[in-house]
Amino acid sequence: MNPVHWWSAGLAHVPQVDHWIDEVEAARFASMRFTKRRSEAKLSRYCAKTTVAMTLGRSTDPASLRSIQIRNARDGAPETRVDGHDGELVIAMTDRADWAVAAVIAGPSRIGCDLELVEPRSQAFVDDYFTPAERSLVAGSAEPALTSNLIWSAKESALKVLRTGLRRDTRTVTVTLREDRAEAWNSLLVDSSEGRHMWGWWRRYNSFVLTVAAEVEIPAPESLERPPPLATATPGHSWLERPTAT
Ligand SMILES: CC(C)(COP(=O)(O)OP(=O)(O)OC[C@H]1O[C@@H](n2cnc3c(N)ncnc32)[C@H](O)[C@@H]1OP(=O)(O)O)[C@@H](O)C(=O)NCCC(=O)NCCS
Repeated sequence: MNPVHWWSAGLAHVPQVDHWIDEVEAARFASMRFTKRRSEAKLSRYCAKTTVAMTLGRSTDPASLRSIQIRNARDGAPETRVDGHDGELVIAMTDRADWAVAAVIAGPSRIGCDLELVEPRSQAFVDDYFTPAERSLVAGSAEPALTSNLIWSAKESALKVLRTGLRRDTRTVTVTLREDRAEAWNSLLVDSSEGRHMWGWWRRYNSFVLTVAAEVEIPAPESLERPPPLATATPGHSWLERPTAT
Protein backbone atom coordinates (compact mmCIF):
# COMPACT_ATOMS: atom_id res chain seq x y z
CA MET A 1 0.00 0.00 0.00
CA ASN A 2 1.43 3.38 -0.99
CA PRO A 3 1.44 5.86 1.90
CA VAL A 4 -0.67 9.01 1.83
CA HIS A 5 1.08 12.09 3.18
CA TRP A 6 -0.73 15.25 4.18
CA TRP A 7 -0.06 18.67 5.57
CA SER A 8 -2.30 21.40 6.92
CA ALA A 9 -1.93 25.17 7.00
CA GLY A 10 -3.92 28.13 8.20
CA LEU A 11 -4.13 31.65 6.77
CA ALA A 12 -1.43 32.76 9.22
CA HIS A 13 1.07 30.37 7.58
CA VAL A 14 0.82 31.98 4.13
CA PRO A 15 3.86 34.22 3.43
CA GLN A 16 3.03 37.91 3.07
CA VAL A 17 5.41 38.29 0.13
CA ASP A 18 4.44 36.42 -3.03
CA HIS A 19 7.86 35.08 -4.15
CA TRP A 20 6.52 31.51 -3.89
CA ILE A 21 3.96 32.17 -6.65
CA ASP A 22 4.62 32.02 -10.41
CA GLU A 23 3.20 34.38 -13.05
CA VAL A 24 0.26 32.12 -13.95
CA GLU A 25 -0.79 31.84 -10.33
CA ALA A 26 -0.27 35.56 -9.72
CA ALA A 27 -2.55 36.39 -12.66
CA ARG A 28 -5.17 33.95 -11.40
CA PHE A 29 -5.17 35.41 -7.90
CA ALA A 30 -5.28 38.97 -9.24
CA SER A 31 -8.40 38.13 -11.27
CA MET A 32 -10.29 37.13 -8.12
CA ARG A 33 -12.38 40.03 -6.95
CA PHE A 34 -13.58 38.57 -3.70
CA THR A 35 -11.25 38.42 -0.73
CA LYS A 36 -12.65 35.09 0.45
CA ARG A 37 -12.01 33.35 -2.86
CA ARG A 38 -8.57 34.91 -3.26
CA SER A 39 -7.36 34.13 0.27
CA GLU A 40 -8.73 30.57 0.08
CA ALA A 41 -7.05 30.02 -3.28
CA LYS A 42 -3.71 31.33 -2.01
CA LEU A 43 -3.91 29.31 1.18
CA SER A 44 -4.77 26.07 -0.60
CA ARG A 45 -1.98 26.63 -3.20
CA TYR A 46 0.54 27.36 -0.46
CA CYS A 47 -0.53 24.26 1.44
CA ALA A 48 -0.42 22.08 -1.69
CA LYS A 49 3.02 23.30 -2.83
CA THR A 50 4.49 22.86 0.64
CA THR A 51 3.01 19.34 0.89
CA VAL A 52 4.62 18.37 -2.44
CA ALA A 53 7.95 19.94 -1.46
CA MET A 54 8.05 18.17 1.92
CA THR A 55 7.05 14.82 0.41
CA LEU A 56 9.77 15.08 -2.25
CA GLY A 57 12.33 16.17 0.35
CA ARG A 58 12.75 19.56 -1.34
CA SER A 59 13.23 22.86 0.37
CA THR A 60 10.11 24.82 1.30
CA ASP A 61 11.78 28.16 0.66
CA PRO A 62 9.98 30.56 -1.75
CA ALA A 63 12.15 29.70 -4.80
CA SER A 64 11.55 25.99 -4.30
CA LEU A 65 7.78 26.46 -3.89
CA ARG A 66 7.73 28.62 -7.02
CA SER A 67 9.17 25.68 -9.00
CA ILE A 68 6.20 23.53 -7.93
CA GLN A 69 2.98 24.36 -9.70
CA ILE A 70 -0.53 23.19 -8.95
CA ARG A 71 -2.82 23.48 -11.96
CA ASN A 72 -6.42 22.40 -12.41
CA ALA A 73 -7.48 19.92 -15.09
CA ARG A 74 -10.57 20.75 -17.11
CA ASP A 75 -12.79 18.96 -14.60
CA GLY A 76 -11.28 20.99 -11.75
CA ALA A 77 -9.06 18.26 -10.28
CA PRO A 78 -5.63 19.53 -9.16
CA GLU A 79 -2.44 18.31 -10.83
CA THR A 80 1.20 18.85 -9.88
CA ARG A 81 4.09 20.09 -12.00
CA VAL A 82 7.64 20.14 -10.69
CA ASP A 83 10.42 22.05 -12.46
CA GLY A 84 8.15 22.36 -15.51
CA HIS A 85 7.39 18.63 -15.79
CA ASP A 86 4.28 16.67 -14.85
CA GLY A 87 4.70 15.61 -11.23
CA GLU A 88 4.54 11.97 -10.19
CA LEU A 89 2.54 12.74 -7.07
CA VAL A 90 -1.24 12.65 -7.23
CA ILE A 91 -2.71 15.43 -5.10
CA ALA A 92 -6.02 16.30 -3.49
CA MET A 93 -6.90 19.62 -1.87
CA THR A 94 -9.51 21.11 0.42
CA ASP A 95 -10.05 24.19 2.55
CA ARG A 96 -12.56 25.26 5.16
CA ALA A 97 -12.78 28.15 7.63
CA ASP A 98 -9.31 29.60 6.89
CA TRP A 99 -7.59 26.19 7.03
CA ALA A 100 -6.37 24.02 4.17
CA VAL A 101 -5.24 20.44 3.77
CA ALA A 102 -3.43 18.80 0.87
CA ALA A 103 -2.87 15.03 0.58
CA VAL A 104 -0.54 13.27 -1.85
CA ILE A 105 0.13 9.71 -2.97
CA ALA A 106 2.58 8.30 -5.50
CA GLY A 107 0.56 7.91 -8.72
CA PRO A 108 -1.36 6.69 -10.53
CA SER A 109 -4.09 6.02 -7.90
CA ARG A 110 -6.54 8.84 -7.45
CA ILE A 111 -7.21 10.28 -4.01
CA GLY A 112 -9.60 12.84 -2.58
CA CYS A 113 -9.61 14.75 0.70
CA ASP A 114 -12.13 17.02 2.34
CA LEU A 115 -12.17 19.21 5.44
CA GLU A 116 -15.42 20.16 7.17
CA LEU A 117 -16.45 21.85 10.39
CA VAL A 118 -18.30 19.83 12.99
CA GLU A 119 -21.44 21.96 12.96
CA PRO A 120 -25.17 21.22 13.01
CA ARG A 121 -26.71 20.01 9.73
CA SER A 122 -30.45 20.26 9.21
CA GLN A 123 -32.70 17.24 8.81
CA ALA A 124 -33.54 18.59 5.33
CA PHE A 125 -29.82 18.47 4.40
CA VAL A 126 -29.53 14.87 5.61
CA ASP A 127 -32.77 13.88 3.84
CA ASP A 128 -31.77 15.54 0.56
CA TYR A 129 -28.15 14.44 0.22
CA PHE A 130 -27.73 11.18 2.17
CA THR A 131 -28.69 7.59 1.32
CA PRO A 132 -31.11 5.69 3.60
CA ALA A 133 -28.18 3.82 5.25
CA GLU A 134 -26.40 7.11 5.96
CA ARG A 135 -29.57 8.69 7.35
CA SER A 136 -29.84 5.76 9.77
CA LEU A 137 -26.25 6.35 10.91
CA VAL A 138 -27.02 10.00 11.70
CA ALA A 139 -30.35 9.14 13.39
CA GLY A 140 -28.64 6.59 15.65
CA SER A 141 -25.59 8.73 16.44
CA ALA A 142 -24.81 10.18 19.88
CA GLU A 143 -23.03 13.00 18.01
CA PRO A 144 -25.15 13.79 14.94
CA ALA A 145 -23.13 16.93 14.05
CA LEU A 146 -19.95 14.84 13.84
CA THR A 147 -21.58 11.93 12.03
CA SER A 148 -23.38 14.06 9.43
CA ASN A 149 -20.30 16.16 8.64
CA LEU A 150 -17.95 13.24 8.44
CA ILE A 151 -20.33 11.39 6.10
CA TRP A 152 -20.66 14.53 3.97
CA SER A 153 -16.88 14.96 3.96
CA ALA A 154 -16.31 11.32 2.97
CA LYS A 155 -18.79 11.74 0.13
CA GLU A 156 -16.93 14.82 -1.12
CA SER A 157 -13.60 12.98 -0.86
CA ALA A 158 -15.06 10.08 -2.85
CA LEU A 159 -16.54 12.43 -5.47
CA LYS A 160 -13.08 13.97 -5.84
CA VAL A 161 -11.64 10.46 -6.39
CA LEU A 162 -14.28 9.99 -9.10
CA ARG A 163 -13.38 13.50 -10.36
CA THR A 164 -17.01 14.55 -10.70
CA GLY A 165 -17.29 16.64 -7.56
CA LEU A 166 -20.85 17.67 -6.81
CA ARG A 167 -21.84 17.41 -10.49
CA ARG A 168 -22.83 13.91 -9.44
CA ASP A 169 -25.81 13.08 -7.16
CA THR A 170 -24.37 12.63 -3.65
CA ARG A 171 -26.82 9.74 -3.07
CA THR A 172 -25.01 7.64 -5.68
CA VAL A 173 -22.18 7.05 -3.19
CA THR A 174 -22.74 5.46 0.21
CA VAL A 175 -20.38 5.80 3.15
CA THR A 176 -19.92 2.98 5.68
CA LEU A 177 -18.11 3.79 8.91
CA ARG A 178 -15.97 0.96 10.25
CA GLU A 179 -14.54 2.54 13.41
CA ASP A 180 -15.23 5.45 15.79
CA ARG A 181 -12.22 6.15 17.98
CA ALA A 182 -11.40 9.54 19.48
CA GLU A 183 -8.02 11.08 18.59
CA ALA A 184 -7.29 8.40 16.00
CA TRP A 185 -7.76 7.75 12.32
CA ASN A 186 -10.82 5.61 11.64
CA SER A 187 -11.33 3.56 8.50
CA LEU A 188 -14.35 3.87 6.23
CA LEU A 189 -15.60 2.53 2.91
CA VAL A 190 -17.46 4.25 0.10
CA ASP A 191 -19.45 2.27 -2.48
CA SER A 192 -20.73 3.82 -5.67
CA SER A 193 -24.00 2.94 -7.38
CA GLU A 194 -22.09 1.38 -10.30
CA GLY A 195 -20.24 -0.99 -7.97
CA ARG A 196 -16.94 0.83 -7.45
CA HIS A 197 -15.31 0.61 -4.03
CA MET A 198 -13.26 3.30 -2.37
CA TRP A 199 -11.26 3.07 0.84
CA GLY A 200 -10.81 5.94 3.24
CA TRP A 201 -10.13 7.34 6.64
CA TRP A 202 -11.63 10.00 8.89
CA ARG A 203 -10.33 11.82 11.91
CA ARG A 204 -11.65 14.59 14.11
CA TYR A 205 -9.43 17.51 15.04
CA ASN A 206 -11.42 19.59 17.56
CA SER A 207 -13.83 21.70 15.45
CA PHE A 208 -12.79 20.03 12.19
CA VAL A 209 -13.28 16.62 10.63
CA LEU A 210 -10.92 15.48 7.88
CA THR A 211 -11.49 12.62 5.44
CA VAL A 212 -9.26 11.04 2.81
CA ALA A 213 -10.42 8.50 0.21
CA ALA A 214 -8.72 6.55 -2.57
CA GLU A 215 -9.56 4.08 -5.29
CA VAL A 216 -7.15 1.61 -3.70
CA GLU A 217 -6.74 0.49 -0.11
CA ILE A 218 -4.54 3.00 1.72
CA PRO A 219 -2.94 3.04 5.16
CA ALA A 220 -3.96 5.74 7.64
CA PRO A 221 -2.73 9.11 6.30
CA GLU A 222 0.58 10.35 7.72
CA SER A 223 0.98 14.01 8.59
CA LEU A 224 4.24 15.51 7.33
CA GLU A 225 4.40 17.56 10.53
CA ARG A 226 3.78 16.16 13.99
CA PRO A 227 1.58 17.15 15.60
CA PRO A 228 -0.29 18.44 12.55
CA PRO A 229 -1.00 22.20 12.67
CA LEU A 230 -4.68 21.27 12.27
CA ALA A 231 -4.60 19.63 15.71
CA THR A 232 -4.56 23.07 17.36
CA ALA A 233 -6.46 24.96 14.64
CA THR A 234 -9.23 27.42 15.37
CA PRO A 235 -11.75 27.94 12.57
CA GLY A 236 -11.66 31.45 11.13
CA HIS A 237 -13.98 33.53 9.03
CA SER A 238 -11.55 36.31 8.15
CA TRP A 239 -13.26 37.22 4.88
CA LEU A 240 -16.32 38.52 6.73
CA GLU A 241 -14.23 41.45 7.89
CA ARG A 242 -13.33 42.48 4.31
CA PRO A 243 -15.61 40.77 1.77
CA THR A 244 -14.19 42.39 -1.39
CA ALA A 245 -10.61 42.61 -2.53
CA THR A 246 -8.79 45.92 -2.27
C1 LIG B 1 -15.06 19.69 -6.20
C2 LIG B 1 -16.00 20.20 -5.12
C3 LIG B 1 -16.74 19.01 -4.54
C4 LIG B 1 -15.15 20.88 -4.03
O1 LIG B 1 -15.91 21.14 -2.88
P1 LIG B 1 -15.74 22.38 -1.89
O2 LIG B 1 -16.19 21.88 -0.56
O3 LIG B 1 -16.40 23.54 -2.46
O4 LIG B 1 -14.23 22.77 -1.84
P2 LIG B 1 -12.94 22.07 -1.23
O5 LIG B 1 -12.13 23.17 -0.66
O6 LIG B 1 -13.22 20.91 -0.36
O7 LIG B 1 -12.20 21.51 -2.54
C5 LIG B 1 -11.80 22.38 -3.54
C6 LIG B 1 -10.76 21.70 -4.37
O8 LIG B 1 -11.28 20.50 -4.93
C7 LIG B 1 -10.51 20.20 -6.08
N1 LIG B 1 -11.41 19.82 -7.16
C8 LIG B 1 -12.22 20.63 -7.89
N2 LIG B 1 -12.87 19.91 -8.82
C9 LIG B 1 -12.45 18.63 -8.69
C10 LIG B 1 -12.75 17.43 -9.37
N3 LIG B 1 -13.61 17.38 -10.39
N4 LIG B 1 -12.15 16.29 -8.97
C11 LIG B 1 -11.27 16.30 -7.95
N5 LIG B 1 -10.94 17.42 -7.25
C12 LIG B 1 -11.54 18.56 -7.63
C13 LIG B 1 -9.70 21.45 -6.44
O9 LIG B 1 -8.34 21.24 -6.07
C14 LIG B 1 -10.33 22.50 -5.55
O10 LIG B 1 -9.44 23.50 -5.12
P3 LIG B 1 -8.80 24.57 -6.16
O11 LIG B 1 -9.90 25.00 -7.06
O12 LIG B 1 -8.25 25.65 -5.29
O13 LIG B 1 -7.71 23.81 -6.89
C15 LIG B 1 -16.99 21.22 -5.64
O14 LIG B 1 -16.31 22.43 -5.90
C16 LIG B 1 -17.69 20.77 -6.89
O15 LIG B 1 -18.33 19.74 -6.95
N6 LIG B 1 -17.64 21.50 -7.93
C17 LIG B 1 -18.29 21.02 -9.16
C18 LIG B 1 -17.26 20.77 -10.17
C19 LIG B 1 -16.74 22.08 -10.62
O16 LIG B 1 -17.48 23.00 -10.87
N7 LIG B 1 -15.41 22.19 -10.69
C20 LIG B 1 -14.78 23.47 -10.95
C21 LIG B 1 -13.97 23.59 -12.18
S1 LIG B 1 -14.61 22.94 -13.68
